[in-house]
Amino acid sequence: MYTIVLLVGFFIAAYIFHETTVKGKSCTSKAKLHGKTVIVTGSNTGIGKTTAIELAKRGARVILACRSKQRGEAALQDVKRESGSNQVVFMQLDLASLKSVRSFAENFLKTEPRLDILINNAGVLLIGRTKDGFGLMFGVNHLGHFLLTNLLLDRLKECGPSRVVNVSSAAHNWGTVDFDYLNTHRDLRVGTTWLDTFRIYGDSKLCNILFTHELAKRLKGTKVTCYSLHPGSILTELQRNQSTTVQLILKNIERFLFKTPLQGSQTTLHCALQEGIEHLSGRYFSNCAAKNIFAKARDDAASKKLWEISERFCGI
Ligand SMILES: NC(=O)c1ccc[n+]([C@@H]2O[C@H](COP(=O)([O-])OP(=O)(O)OC[C@H]3O[C@@H](n4cnc5c(N)ncnc54)[C@H](OP(=O)(O)O)[C@@H]3O)[C@@H](O)[C@H]2O)c1
Ligand SMILES: *[C@@H]1O[C@H](CO)[C@@H](O)[C@H](O)[C@H]1NC(C)=O
Ligand SMILES: *[C@@H]1O[C@H](CO)[C@@H](O)[C@H](O)[C@H]1NC(C)=O
Repeated sequence: MYTIVLLVGFFIAAYIFHETTVKGKSCTSKAKLHGKTVIVTGSNTGIGKTTAIELAKRGARVILACRSKQRGEAALQDVKRESGSNQVVFMQLDLASLKSVRSFAENFLKTEPRLDILINNAGVLLIGRTKDGFGLMFGVNHLGHFLLTNLLLDRLKECGPSRVVNVSSAAHNWGTVDFDYLNTHRDLRVGTTWLDTFRIYGDSKLCNILFTHELAKRLKGTKVTCYSLHPGSILTELQRNQSTTVQLILKNIERFLFKTPLQGSQTTLHCALQEGIEHLSGRYFSNCAAKNIFAKARDDAASKKLWEISERFCGI
């Protein structure tokens, strides 16, 4: 009973935040990307995979940065086939390991001369720990991408105008960052129930937005701009590690209310491609437009603090 009430509550909340019609707006940019290189993290399935296909269709050289060699190579064939492009490369990246992030960056910087767009898309909805002992959602959704972005920043600067796009979520609305807990436990909060899972997920997605806020400040005066976004509610594999009851309920509601991955990639594409949005660097987008967010998501002190603690955790 408790579970059902909470689930209904979750969907009402999701629906309120899901302020647009189900389908939503499409990216209207006609930009072509020949000669440009794009990295999409977590692109073997879901929104990341459709984003990769759309960018490859526009002529970009697309790097599929995925943790599983097997799933990454299967996606490589699909992306090549569906885009009709052979400028697609798989490179292994496990965001749950800072060592893997470092070796990905090293390998990328050695083998690829350019980086024009970095799309931090990978995400998990699962309780656990990373290889370095951080909370899994903090580690993958935030910290791994933090290190990755920092290691690739010089290349992005050299190739400017360039962009960093962070796939966040409306779930940040119920997130908070407890710095004391983060310091002592290397995670965002305590708990293992599915409700805690959604809460920690929200916290990790708030981290993405705080980072975009701080990064935009640090990038002033360079030709790199950055954006965070909510892709919409989309039928993907994100809920795969939840209980079968949660999955069954989610799947059936999703069929009616949620977008397809192609619809779900439109705001990512908008942030990556739309001409003339550079003055909106650091902002949060939803349904292909900049949106206002709660004060907690543009808190200068919190974003600076998160940046510093993340630097310390990554040893940079
Ligand atoms: N679906 C929605 O309604 C929704 C709403 C708001 C925001 N988002 C955000 O959209 C993004 C994409 O999610 P999705 O819905 O497309 O989910 P998905 O289908 O589960 O895809 C997530 C991707 O992230 C990858 N990933 C997970 N852990 C990783 C790790 N340690 N290292 C590297 N890659 C890893 C997954 O790889 P494996 O296949 O190997 O696990 C997969 O490719 C996420 O950031 C999510 O938070 C989704
Ligand atoms: C994206 O998020 C990561 C992790 O939260 C952060 O390190 C990075 O600076 C962010 N970049 C942008 C453009 O928001
Ligand atoms: C999460 O779900 C995937 C797909 O069902 C499975 O392969 C993986 O082992 C699961 N991970 C955990 C930690 O349960």
